[in-house]
Amino acid sequence: MQEIKFYSGENIPLELHKVRIVQKLNLVPIERRLQALFEGGFNTFRLSTRDVFLDMLTDSGTNAMSDNQLSAMMRADDAYAGSQSFERLQKAVEDVLDKKYLLPVHQGRAAENILSVAYVHKGSLVPMNYHFTTAMAHITDKGGNIAELLYNEAYVINSDHPFKGNMNIEKLEETINYHGPKNIPFIRMEASTNLIGGQPFSVQNLRDVRAIADKYKIRLILDCSLLGENAFLVLQREEEFKNSNMETVIKTMTGLADICYFSARKLSSSRGGGICTDSLEIFKELEAFIPLYEGFLTYGGMSIREVEAMAVGLYETLDETVISQSPSFIKYLVEQLDKKNIPVIKPAGVLGVHLDAMQICAHIPQTQYPAGCLAAALFLISGIRGMERGSISNQRDEYGNETYADMELLRLAMPRRVFTLSQVKYVEDRVTWLYDNRHLIGGLKFVYEPPVLRFFMGGLEPVNDWPEKLVAKFKEDFGESL
Ligand SMILES: Cc1ncc(COP(=O)(O)O)c(C=O)c1O
Repeated sequence: MQEIKFYSGENIPLELHKVRIVQKLNLVPIERRLQALFEGGFNTFRLSTRDVFLDMLTDSGTNAMSDNQLSAMMRADDAYAGSQSFERLQKAVEDVLDKKYLLPVHQGRAAENILSVAYVHKGSLVPMNYHFTTAMAHITDKGGNIAELLYNEAYVINSDHPFKGNMNIEKLEETINYHGPKNIPFIRMEASTNLIGGQPFSVQNLRDVRAIADKYKIRLILDCSLLGENAFLVLQREEEFKNSNMETVIKTMTGLADICYFSARKLSSSRGGGICTDSLEIFKELEAFIPLYEGFLTYGGMSIREVEAMAVGLYETLDETVISQSPSFIKYLVEQLDKKNIPVIKPAGVLGVHLDAMQICAHIPQTQYPAGCLAAALFLISGIRGMERGSISNQRDEYGNETYADMELLRLAMPRRVFTLSQVKYVEDRVTWLYDNRHLIGGLKFVYEPPVLRFFMGGLEPVNDWPEKLVAKFKEDFGESL
């Protein structure tokens, strides 16, 4: 990656793209933001973008599309079966991910559903570096269970470990021996492990996982949703690959897996998803589920326009100037917040900046969801919408008990090529103010709790009048400023 230095010596990331389509944003008054929180059950998923200024909920389906993606959408070959657009997508998957067979699906979790329907049974155990919400929900829905096998350093917030997403190899072997290989339908590795702060694994670690998978004859499945960013960090952090390139690293990683699946909402800045493999046997095992759950085998529930955008987006995943933009803005913001001793996950990962609510809201017990409180408070005082990634995002155990998360994080996603540096500076400013006033943030309790994936539509309310007190302090400090 070529670095561009400033004469002033300032170390700031430079955008290597220009903006050609813009969308106007609203920054509504704080009184309206308070009302919106009550209407949306203090759950940032339930806010309308009418009330949101900077939407940092997710990078899923919100990355900026390129001119080439948009123009490809115009040549979509709309056909139920045998579309040429699908042929172009197949070629892109072969060229970029180096896999021969592709099964298209409408998004990442649809791939997780199909893999679980095909391979998970009651009593199955799926070892993984760490869970993702939808991956876990589909496995448990089919009667299986998961085992999370990260090394302890993955849970250290203030760290300089380059590969916190690495699978604990010793624990993996122990787990296989304990449960028996026949009860383990597959091992799942997630690139740029989402819920621990977008932290990568190394290629060497993936090779070690592959060796164990071979030894016990277990399939290895790679969640490639954030593979581009994982590859980018491998180039930066793994000695063996320091003079390599995106294509080599990506192919080295996908070459170690029996099955790759992805959310194209992330991987290729489009919509949709896919499952791919080099094994005809695996392809045949999964094939019949596509028309059953998704759509015909040449569109898989996606619009053909998205199929075209996905193909172009996959090639763009090989372009470091595309993939580096989000991680470099994240690194910038992490460094600025860290200088002020605001607890953020380090080293800077991908996907977003992760604030440590366990420390920032140390006065709020986990039973009152500190990360959810921080998400609501930040929206209230800034219009910035982040996502709770803590105990609200966890699911209850089989007996209905709460399972408290290992980490209580507020994720501020940085979709690719969406925000400008002055917007990032606004985030820094408002997070700093909130940190200085953190004692005013209070707890939340559930008033409506859906049985599955409760964080999406659940409703909460504050345990007392802390939001009003926070509004009063904001007005004292900022006057009539929005
Ligand atoms: C690592 C990972 N896997 C799977 C998914 C699920 O993908 P989708 O949202 O397209 O269903 C996501 C979505 O954010 C993800 O981050």
